[in-house]
Amino acid sequence: MTFPTVLAASARQVQARLDLALNDLDDEPVIHAMRYALAGGKGLRGFFVLESAALHGIAPENAVAAAAAIEAMHAYSLVHDDLPCMDNDDLRRGLPTVHRKWDEAVAVLAGDALQTLAFELLTDAALGLNRLALIAGMARAAGARGMVLGQALDMAAETAATPLTLQQITRLQAGKTGALFEWSATAGAVLAGADPAPLGRYAAAMGLAFQIADDILDVTGDAAKAGKKLGKDAEAGKATFVSLLGLDGAQTRAASLIDEATAALAPYGARAGTLIAAARFVIAREN
Ligand code: IPE
Ligand code: IPE
Ligand code: MG
Ligand code: MG
Ligand code: MG
Repeated sequence: MTFPTVLAASARQVQARLDLALNDLDDEPVIHAMRYALAGGKGLRGFFVLESAALHGIAPENAVAAAAAIEAMHAYSLVHDDLPCMDNDDLRRGLPTVHRKWDEAVAVLAGDALQTLAFELLTDAALGLNRLALIAGMARAAGARGMVLGQALDMAAETAATPLTLQQITRLQAGKTGALFEWSATAGAVLAGADPAPLGRYAAAMGLAFQIADDILDVTGDAAKAGKKLGKDAEAGKATFVSLLGLDGAQTRAASLIDEATAALAPYGARAGTLIAAARFVIAREN
């Protein structure tokens, strides 16, 4: 099976758990907006949860609530990221952004409710007794030490007097994109009560490579395939991995990070094959 096929199967499984969580909610615009925001992504973060769980002998039905939780958290981050006060984007996953399809109030509230839904999903008893550690980790990864911090640094960078340095961008990214990936890829180890360190090293390198690929796509990508507006980083005068390293330099750095991510999986031997394929996919993707 090719990696995109594996990823699509995982995304379907996660979507079914999300549908279950939303199926008894009221018939209101904010609920429709939540469903809309949860649809159409690649499902990478949910995949990392299910795969790291499988690596630790945990069946999908005992991990899928955590996979659904991270996709809800990620969807919230995108809805808010696209708002006029942030990136002001009209298109996401090939469709109008939530605030364009409904309005800003609906988008803010749908994002808020997606975030609380993530924590509700993590209380699912099927996740077992270690889920408390997962909940604490999610709060750290999504909040002021993680994604929110990275997003705040990213917004500040747009108006900074001097462009950020490579070190500053790496810190920004570790929060903005890295923290949710790290939570996802270590979730299986946390649930199993195993050492999450090797998967943590894998995720740090893979997550950085993912963001470098996002920056490269912003310059060289095809907007129709990406399903979002491109060229926005240069337009905003933002320093990115591409502006600092050049296109070739960014590509070389991403490739060496994938080697690093692969090396971190050595303790798992041949069983880590799908995670290696995932890391390669992350820098070869077109959307
Ligand atoms: C996009 O993430 C936002 C960034 C963190 C750069 P993905 O590329 O994983 O988005 P979807 O979920 O597949 O749409
Ligand atoms: C979004 O980063 C990151 C989060 C939502 C946490 P970007 O602003 O670079 O993502 P795109 O390019 O809009 O998908
Ligand atoms: Mg942004
Ligand atoms: Mg954006
Ligand atoms: Mg981007």
